[in-house]
Amino acid sequence: MDRIIIKGGRRLTGRIPISGAKNAALTLMPCALLTDEPLTLRNLPRLADVDSFGHLLNQLGVSTMIEGARQGEFGRVMTLRASTIVSTVAPYDIVRKMRASILVLGPLLARAGEATVSLPGGCAIGNRPIDLHLKALQALGAEIELAAGYVRAIAPAGGLTGGTIRFPAVSVGATENALMAAVLAKGTTVVENAAREPEITDLAMCLNAMGARISGLRTDTLTIEGVDRLHGATYSVMPDRIEAGSYACAAMITGGSLELVGARRETMPAILSGLEDAGAVIESGDNGIKVSADGGIKPLSLSTAPFPAFPTDMQAQFMAMLSLAEGTSLLTETIFENRYMHVPELNRMGADIEVRGRSAVVRGVGHLVGAPVMATDLRASMSLVLAGLAAEGETQVHRVYHLDRGYERLEEKLQAVGADIERASDG
Ligand code: EPZ
Repeated sequence: MDRIIIKGGRRLTGRIPISGAKNAALTLMPCALLTDEPLTLRNLPRLADVDSFGHLLNQLGVSTMIEGARQGEFGRVMTLRASTIVSTVAPYDIVRKMRASILVLGPLLARAGEATVSLPGGCAIGNRPIDLHLKALQALGAEIELAAGYVRAIAPAGGLTGGTIRFPAVSVGATENALMAAVLAKGTTVVENAAREPEITDLAMCLNAMGARISGLRTDTLTIEGVDRLHGATYSVMPDRIEAGSYACAAMITGGSLELVGARRETMPAILSGLEDAGAVIESGDNGIKVSADGGIKPLSLSTAPFPAFPTDMQAQFMAMLSLAEGTSLLTETIFENRYMHVPELNRMGADIEVRGRSAVVRGVGHLVGAPVMATDLRASMSLVLAGLAAEGETQVHRVYHLDRGYERLEEKLQAVGADIERASDG
């Protein structure tokens, strides 16, 4: 396993190219299952999860052809084609490593009339149920069976039929599965209390480019007029708002100034307002967003919630930044039940953070001290890297495979703006 070694205390300045969004890529790739024509995705990030999803789709019969990045673009171009579906089973050994695999459920059901997907099980940050996904598919006429750790969904003989899906709670993944199942259903589907994350809009725009008829984008009510078939398309993955927010925190925690090339302001409203409240100077233009520290970090009181509120995927990164604030901050995690595993590791670096139920009290300290630390999940890993960038001395972050799931070329991007960071193999 690899580890990342950081010698902290350097002020980061310069430009960081923002890659295509992991959480958009992972819902755009399964769209290829919905047609026998080629779907070309551009600006696809080089991430472990994207590669894992490609392998899963290959097993289902999707060919995936990759080109390198084109001039002026950071991401790869991948053309996916499901001429025929050769399997409708997503096996446990893949799903357990990447729970986003559950996103093949809706499109397989729509295209092939059935799907058998291993229950994803929990992960480090929570038990991650899929009941909302299943209720959505049942509202379109699917029969659902649970057996031996797998969920099996079967469409009626005539295919899925449109219906009303009322989500009792906001779910990004369940909204995505609902959309991908409804686009080929007979009749109209209305999704109420739909997630409004920008990745949902990206998915709806890609499906519409393929011939779907989805309206209500960017709202919590989506209407889908079912069509008989979808055709191929070329679509560019949106920039990663969480990667951009993570590097914005790097600017703040090191007292630097970073230009996040390609970041889009409208995809990160609560992140930017949180940074401004913490004292950042934000300048946005057509090419991206510039985030500059301007003196000390101010304490905040923040709760995570569905978009457009403050995203749970930025909680750990903000916590690292606020561990050096001039005062006490309060962070409350309302989305996942166990998303504070970065706290003990940050405290080992000299932070003063106390978890009280769903909240964490972060008392700002004068400085952090480098230490060997253990990554536990994707965003927790990034919070440890951020702390290491600011800490005195050397920090070694172990189990960086967590980071490789969601941050493309992390060391390269940080080295380019002045960080003393390198990757070493544990042998
Ligand atoms: C997506 O996960 C993201 N992953 C997560 O990003 C993100 O944290 C999350 O949305 C919230 O924004 C991808 O897009 C691949 P949810 P998802 O369904 O779809 C509960 C990262 O770091 N729930 O919106 O799984 C669930 O337990 C990852 O990039 C049910 O109870 O999230 C959670 O408490 C981590 N039943 C809440 O809803 C269900 O059927 C929100 O989950 C589904 C979810």
